[in-house]
Amino acid sequence: MPEIKQTPTASEPTTNGATPHSNGAESATLKERQTDAIPPPRGRYAHIVGWGYHVPEKVITNQDLEQIVDTNDEWIRSRTGIAERHVAADPKETSATLAIVAARKALEVADVPANKIDLIICATTTPEYLFPATACLIQDALGADNAGAFDLSAACSGFVYGLAMARGQILAGDAEYVLVIGTETLSRIVDWTDRDTCILFGDGAGAVLVAASEVPGGILSVDLGSDGSGGNTLIVPAGGSAMSTSLETVSSGMHYVKMDGKAVFRFATRVMAASTRKVLERAGYTTDDIDLVVPHQANIRIIQNSVLNQLKIPAEKVFVNLQKYGNTSTASIPIALCEAIEAGKLKPGYKVVFVGFGAGLTWAACALDWRTPVERQAAGWWKSTRRQATYSAAAARSMWKRAVRWVYDVLPDPETPGRDENPKETPETPIKETGGERIKE
Ligand code: UT7
Repeated sequence: MPEIKQTPTASEPTTNGATPHSNGAESATLKERQTDAIPPPRGRYAHIVGWGYHVPEKVITNQDLEQIVDTNDEWIRSRTGIAERHVAADPKETSATLAIVAARKALEVADVPANKIDLIICATTTPEYLFPATACLIQDALGADNAGAFDLSAACSGFVYGLAMARGQILAGDAEYVLVIGTETLSRIVDWTDRDTCILFGDGAGAVLVAASEVPGGILSVDLGSDGSGGNTLIVPAGGSAMSTSLETVSSGMHYVKMDGKAVFRFATRVMAASTRKVLERAGYTTDDIDLVVPHQANIRIIQNSVLNQLKIPAEKVFVNLQKYGNTSTASIPIALCEAIEAGKLKPGYKVVFVGFGAGLTWAACALDWRTPVERQAAGWWKSTRRQATYSAAAARSMWKRAVRWVYDVLPDPETPGRDENPKETPETPIKETGGERIKE
């Protein structure tokens, strides 16, 4: 893991004696714990130490969309800022395969092996299945044998929700390394005949590794919000328990995204600024302290209205890449973070805000004191080879475990006589393998 730097501007205790990410009561508890000789948490701060993203190769431009629906490049650019988006055209590319590539990159940047991960949080609105969780498929492909794994459903706010959960696990002392992923194949749930929605979305994945550290800084404050009364403004109506899939739901397109764009727009411009203000206040910052805002990349007008106009944060401090990717939902902030780093927009010591909103309705923001060095050191060939070998070993282990399960299934069970009289009654459900040839790096 890259050494996290402590600098003179590090987040030292504030005047009330609390660290910026805690309150007085929390500090007191920590002190009591230490005097009682109970081991302290593994790290009092949660830092992002690795990052990576991956998008499908296929690009669909606004001009391409003109051939599909009644729209035009000028309308899409002026109303949204989007010029093109990446789409998983290959059926083998799924939310899990995109996520696995992004996650491997994040682990490589952090130089942390997969077996050190304690928890994998996969934020997604397009999971592989209703269950099992996409996070578990990712865990298997990474060979993260010591990790818990779950999917997080908070739509486009999901990645920041995931960071908040990661920070909580780390500050509680329950985890040292948490992998947080946002991954989407929205092209699979978008109605390509509906110009209101199909022009907006794109596919991709971004991942970060969050690590426990004693160095002050990292994720200092979070704000999570929801308003379920607006749930119907952005929804996939069918496929859940409220409206299970049927011929009728499919023929009426109820398995596609339905959106009241204007209502979502109004909501977004309201909560983005309010949530940013909250996390700044909790971190002890003002808008003037901010070096970089990475907002959810939904619509340039939403970003201009909220971050630039309401918060008065200058455009050069706000990272925008939605023109290339469209709205990739949970993946938009981590992809933008990676590109901001590539573009040299993030340096140790910078005060950073991530802020997003989405279906639910939900919103989320967090403020960070970024400490991790961002310059990438080329990994030696032996390290890359060893890393590849661990992934091949993970795939082999996964196949072995499946084979053992299969053997148990076909062997007669002495404890349940009669169980095997009709063994082929339930056909095996095909779960696609994610660890092997489906992943294109
Ligand atoms: O992660 C959260 C995901 N969702 C969002 O972020 C959505 C937030 N909302 C928005 O971004 C905007 O509301 C949209 C981009 C979806 C729409 O922009 P708008 O400025 O609110 O447009 P509008 O819906 O008011 O439509 C204006 C006109 C309408 O025509 P009339 O009634 O004025 O004749 C629409 O029929 O533009 C028409 N229109 C289009 N024209 C060309 C709507 N979609 C299109 C289109 N191409 N794709």
